[in-house]
Formats: sequence, C-alpha cells, structure tokens
Amino acid sequence: MSKPRRLFISTPIYYASGKPHIGHAYATILADLLARFGRQTGADVFFVTGTDEHGQKMQEEAEHRGMKPIELCDTMAAAFRATWETLEISHNRFIRTTEPEHVAVVTAFLQRLWDRGEIYDGVYAGWYCVSDERYWTDKDLGPENTCSICGRKVTYVEERNYFFKMSNYQDALVRHIEDNPDWIIPEIRRNEVLGFLRQPLADLSISRPRSRVPWGIPLPFDEDHVAYVWVDALINYLTASGAIDPEAPPGQQGFEDVSDSWWPCDLHLIGKDILTNHSVYWPTLLMGAGLPIQRQILSHGWWVVGDTKMSKSLGNVVDPLALREEFGTDAVRWYLLREMPTGSDASFTPERFLVRYNELANVLGNLVSRAISMVSKYREGVVPHTQGGGLSNEIDQALATNYEAMACYRVHEALAASMDLARATNVYVENRQPWTQAKEPAAAQALDETLATLVRVLCVLCALLEPVAPGKMAELALRLGLDSVPSLEEALSVDIAGNHVKVSDPLFPRIEPSWVEDSG
Ligand code: MSP
Repeated sequence: MSKPRRLFISTPIYYASGKPHIGHAYATILADLLARFGRQTGADVFFVTGTDEHGQKMQEEAEHRGMKPIELCDTMAAAFRATWETLEISHNRFIRTTEPEHVAVVTAFLQRLWDRGEIYDGVYAGWYCVSDERYWTDKDLGPENTCSICGRKVTYVEERNYFFKMSNYQDALVRHIEDNPDWIIPEIRRNEVLGFLRQPLADLSISRPRSRVPWGIPLPFDEDHVAYVWVDALINYLTASGAIDPEAPPGQQGFEDVSDSWWPCDLHLIGKDILTNHSVYWPTLLMGAGLPIQRQILSHGWWVVGDTKMSKSLGNVVDPLALREEFGTDAVRWYLLREMPTGSDASFTPERFLVRYNELANVLGNLVSRAISMVSKYREGVVPHTQGGGLSNEIDQALATNYEAMACYRVHEALAASMDLARATNVYVENRQPWTQAKEPAAAQALDETLATLVRVLCVLCALLEPVAPGKMAELALRLGLDSVPSLEEALSVDIAGNHVKVSDPLFPRIEPSWVEDSG
C-alpha cells in the first residue's frame, strides 16, 4: 500500500500578551478547515498552532500587569487553548516557545549557525516598534516616527547585536521565488516580496542585550545576549516538526537529515503583516543552517473595522467567544471563512454576520428540516430503497468546484459552491412538490425518488461542509442515520436506503440578535 500524502500545516504562533480575537480566530479556523479537508481527502495531517511567549513586548506587558512574564504566558496560553477547543480546532500540537524542548532547539539552531560562520557581532542603530517587535529604517517609518503597521511611536535603539549573514542568501531566495511561482500565494504578496528583494538585503539582527531584554533565550555562544523574539518564534515550526534532537551529540542532531520528521512544513499560513518574516528571514535562516525551506506560504488579509485593522491595542476587537455564545461555533466559522475572500481584507459588521447566518438558517437549515420531516411524514422516517439520482449534475458541479477552489485555497468559493447546491435543492423541492406527490398513489415511486435524492444531497453537503462546520455536520450525519460524516469520496456511494432519519430542532435556529438594532 502506498503511504498517505503528508501535510504539515502551521498557523502563526500568537503573542501571549493578550487574549485571542477574531483576527487570530480567522487564521486558526482557516488552517483548521485546510487540515480537515486534507484529512478528508486521505492525507496524514500534522497541524500546529501555539503561542509566542518571549521578547520585549511580553516583558513590558507583564510588568504593566504586575505579573511575572511566565505567569502572563501561562494565563494567555491557557486562554488560547480554551478558545481553540471551543471553536473545534483540530490541531495536533500546541507549541509554546517557553517549552524546554523549543528552548533547546533554538539553542541548537543558533549554535549551528555560529559553527557554520553565519553569525558575526556588530552594532545596530535604528528604530524599533515594540508592539510589532520589528525594526524600521528611516525611509520605511510612518509619519512622526511611527510604526508603519500599528501606528505607534517607535523608539531609537543603538546597541551591540549579533547579526545573521542574511544578505548572502538574497540571490538564492530570489531564484527560489522566481522558479516556484506558487511558493508565496496570492501573487500580489509574491510580487511584494520580489519587490522588496530588488533592494540589497541587509543582514539580520538576531539578538538583544540581556541587560535590556532578559525575557528571552540566551545565545549559546554569548550568554549576555538573548535571541531576537522573531528568530525564536520562527524556529517553533522546526521544533514542532520533530526534526531536531537537541539532546543528541553535535553532528547527529538531525540538521543533516530531516527525512524522519515532518520537516519541511507544507504550508505556513500567515497574515500579510508578517510576510517578510516568513518569506525572507525564515527561509534564509534555514538556508544558513543547511536545512530545506518550507514548501509554501499562504498569506491572508485582515479583518478590519471601518478602515482599521482589528487589534487589541486599538481597542476595536471582536471577541470570537462572545459571538459564539450567541450563534454557536459553526456559525462563527462559517461567517469568517465564507465572508473573507482568501488573501483579501474583509470588514467585520454585525449586519454581514447576520446575512451569512441567515444563509445557514434559511437555506441549509431549512433544507435539512424539510427533507427530514418529509421522510418522516411520508415514509415513517425510513429512506426509500431507490436510487435517488436527481440533481446529479448539480452535485457533480458542487464537488468539482469545491475541489478546484480548495486546490488554490479559494475557500470562500468552495463554501459558496456548497450553499449553491443547497439552494438548488430547495428549488428542486419546490419543483417536485413532494406534498402533492404524497397525495397521489400513482406518484409513490416519484416521491421515493424525490426523498432519496434529498437525503443523497444532504450526505454530500455533510461531507462538503464538515471542514467548516464540524459540529453541525456530525449532528446532521446522526440525523441522516449515518455513523459518522462521510468522506467526500464516500458521500456519493454511501448506502442510505433503509436508514432511519431523526427529526429534531432546527440545525441553525432563527436568531434575532440584540446588537443588530444597536449597531445603527
Ligand atoms: N507572534 C507573531 C507571529 C509569530 S509566527 C512565527 C505575531 N503574532 S500576532 O498575535 O500579532 O498575530 C498573529 C497572526 O494573527 C498574524 O498572522 C496576523 O496577521 C493575524 N492577525 C492579527 N490581527 C488580525 C486581523 N485583524 N485580521 C486577520 N488576521 C490578523 O505576529
């Protein structure tokens, strides 16, 4: 038997300085959908998320709250874990950068760069944004010495730092991006990186004096300095992959051969604000260590409120858990993935949330209720023994569009294809008029066919929508008398004849949320 396809998917690791918001939830739910789709199509999936816990930002936030940095990390890591559990995230590993294993891998990685002559010491002079943990040159600063990402004041820093010889890898990186048009998607982000690489690439400062930023991983070759938080954070992907065994003697730690591990990562899913870190710093660091680079980067857009990125510091965040309380996990997942075209920005508004929720309630939920109640009413809850071959073109179309859209991560289009199938099926019900068929004994066979077709479509929708709505689709499978959600491959062939369906409450109850009136 051939080995299953392997798929290692990562989210960014989130700063443990605050609680998760909708922006973080979006990225993690998108990764979860891709992981679930991968599993459904037979891949062996390794899905990693976690928290980024070192650095100046964490140190300052902990001070501000009167906590020890590790206390803040523990609190927030627990908050992220709990949120992901509630949102049904199916990750295989939750990594924290304060874990001993990660600290050891970062240490081994930096030692490896040092041994290979990739690091030298020098003086850094320039601007720094603590909130985004990044340097800015004069020409890239915002107005009045502000950060171009978050708009906060930057500080001027002049200090001794260690540098990684990133400039040595500029040509190799440009060649890689040019030879692999799908390495960074979407194309607009690829072009942005290629544009950035048209200027000479500077070397990368990879350390901070421990006297100023004690909350970090000490450099193995100079304990007076700690690793720059971004270098520490990027290495999480390698730690999680299990490629490096820092306990092994030098030369046998896995840097020479990663084939027994999950490395290289198949897909780094990231926001557009951290593109340079993932498409320039990270691959060049890997090249410096002599390791294979990640296979692909998918950069998504931002959830904005008005024109502004949603962020804790701006005080305009939407709490995913509060939304979930009112509408349920799968409605939040659906809204976020259906509303935002992968790669673009989208604006969060309560009105749009309601439009998307109503799609679930009025199109899909309504179809489920009608189909199941009619099987119950006209056939005592037993799916008729007949082919149920109606709507086969529409089903084929939905499956084909789903595969095509998912192959290029156009998730919103994949989801739209399912909703189109549900809509077409509601039209089919109107056209077939099963309530009229039920009154005419001569139409018994036609009614069987209508009902079996409806259940068949629901099996297909159950498989198609499981990655976005795992809880509700598990529930739907039960109502259809199935043991579990079928895979996409099984959905068309699963034997439904004779299944007992179960009538129950609406899958997506109609809700009149208070905040729609409030929002003006
Ligand atoms: N800790 C770094 C990532 C290190 S990965 C090796 C970091 N953390 S973050 O918490 O600030 O952001 C994590 C991710 O959340 C980023 O990809 C960012 O784009 C995403 N989002 C944060 N706010 C967002 C929105 N408002 N909308 C969509 N995603 C956004 O950066």
